[in-house]
Amino acid sequence: MWSGRFREPLDSAFEEWQRSFPFDVRLLPQEVAASKAHARAIAAAGILTDAELAKMLGGLDRVIPFSIEETTTTSSSDPNASLSSHFIRIVALSPQAEDIHHFVELQLTKLIGDLALKLHTGRSRNEQIATDMRLFVRDAIDQTLEGLLAWREALVHQARSAGDAVMPSYTHLQRAEPVLTAHWLLAYVAMLQRDFSRLMDCRSRLNLCPLGSGAIAGATLALDRNIAAEALGFDGPTPNSMDATSDRDFALEFTQAISTLGLHISRFAEELTLHSTAEFGFLDLPERFSTGSSAMPQKKNPDLTELIRGKTGRLQGAAITLATIVKGLPLAYNKDLQEGQEPVFDAADTIHGILLLLPEFTRALRFRTEVMQSAAEKGYLNAMAAATYLTHKGVPFRKAHEKIGQAVRLGLETGRELNELTLKELRGFGEEFSEDFFDAISLEATVDCHDVIGGTARNRVGDAMEDASRQIESDRASLASKKSAKLGLESVSLV
Ligand code: ARG
Repeated sequence: MWSGRFREPLDSAFEEWQRSFPFDVRLLPQEVAASKAHARAIAAAGILTDAELAKMLGGLDRVIPFSIEETTTTSSSDPNASLSSHFIRIVALSPQAEDIHHFVELQLTKLIGDLALKLHTGRSRNEQIATDMRLFVRDAIDQTLEGLLAWREALVHQARSAGDAVMPSYTHLQRAEPVLTAHWLLAYVAMLQRDFSRLMDCRSRLNLCPLGSGAIAGATLALDRNIAAEALGFDGPTPNSMDATSDRDFALEFTQAISTLGLHISRFAEELTLHSTAEFGFLDLPERFSTGSSAMPQKKNPDLTELIRGKTGRLQGAAITLATIVKGLPLAYNKDLQEGQEPVFDAADTIHGILLLLPEFTRALRFRTEVMQSAAEKGYLNAMAAATYLTHKGVPFRKAHEKIGQAVRLGLETGRELNELTLKELRGFGEEFSEDFFDAISLEATVDCHDVIGGTARNRVGDAMEDASRQIESDRASLASKKSAKLGLESVSLV
């Protein structure tokens, strides 16, 4: 690609070490699509005749030597595994290629001869890699958004099935107040709604085309940059060539958004791991998502949630690796950027693998409703509701808190819950207590007194469930319109 200026061949160990083809082979579909778009742009600028353009596009269509289906002969249902054996097979075809750009040129030259050498007119690998990565991240975002929709739906489905079932909520991992199980599940839906919107934001900022930026200063041909941008489904060309060739904000934003999503996923995984212990007993882990122990015959281990918790660590790692690579880089392109690809691929694969499993796993969860409810009925979780009862009788909250605190103390000393104390005993703490106190601290009343937007009262949770479903539908529609804008473009497929 650049041998003219050199008198000495490359050190062979260095040559092999600096190559990116073994991993940037991932970008083959993107590289082909971007090359077709560039071919159209240089043809419009008079570098290729119509016949040459047709021949070049035809050649580029044949650059991908075999399809992933042809490679996937085994019945592996792990898409990441099939993808990687596919790419290993492609790398083996051309081990001398330095990177994906070099590979496509070599292949194209084999297919259409010297005409292939015209493709690099007016372009640089610096803008190519920036373009390929944007296309890759755009697909990875779309795939993640699909997964998020499916998981949100599964969570809402479980929330609906939970009906009015009640469980304890926790602060400091100490039982706090009873909440609807649906309310707890919808807490995750709220997090995922934000993750969805973060990724959509990132997608819209990403969607500009670097092609035409050249190596650093802009193409040396008067290219109409809108041609390539349109062919690839970008909203337009990037505004500054120095920025465009060295900017990796889209990848940073993607890995950062995914790392935040990973934090949410790991909290969910941790809660389920905890809830499935004998100590909590809140849920039966689905056997098809659990494993046994080779040593202890009685064990059923929560491997899925544990592994998810572990894998989300890699997502944090990807975001940090990328930020560390970009930090302090002078403008514009620097080879360091090549190291930024693998964390992005790893984050995309990791989140894809997780989101393929989570919806089905979530639907398969079976909660032990009675255990959860009885945990919510013990331990004075109605003490806040009891204090609120007194405030309705005109007692200032600070005083009410103290009186209920005394009642709790009496309960603790005599082994009774608040509803097991007599009215006479309660009156000892304040004359405001009367017969209606016991209704005010029933489990239902304790839940329903949180009658505010976002609260756990049954009617509010019902509203929240409707809102969550509506939001899923509207998010699904926005994603579909973004995805349909990609249809009919230079074919860019899979992350
Ligand atoms: N493989 C390189 C990368 O991923 C492509 C760009 C190379 N540009 C260059 N000026 N050496 O960053």
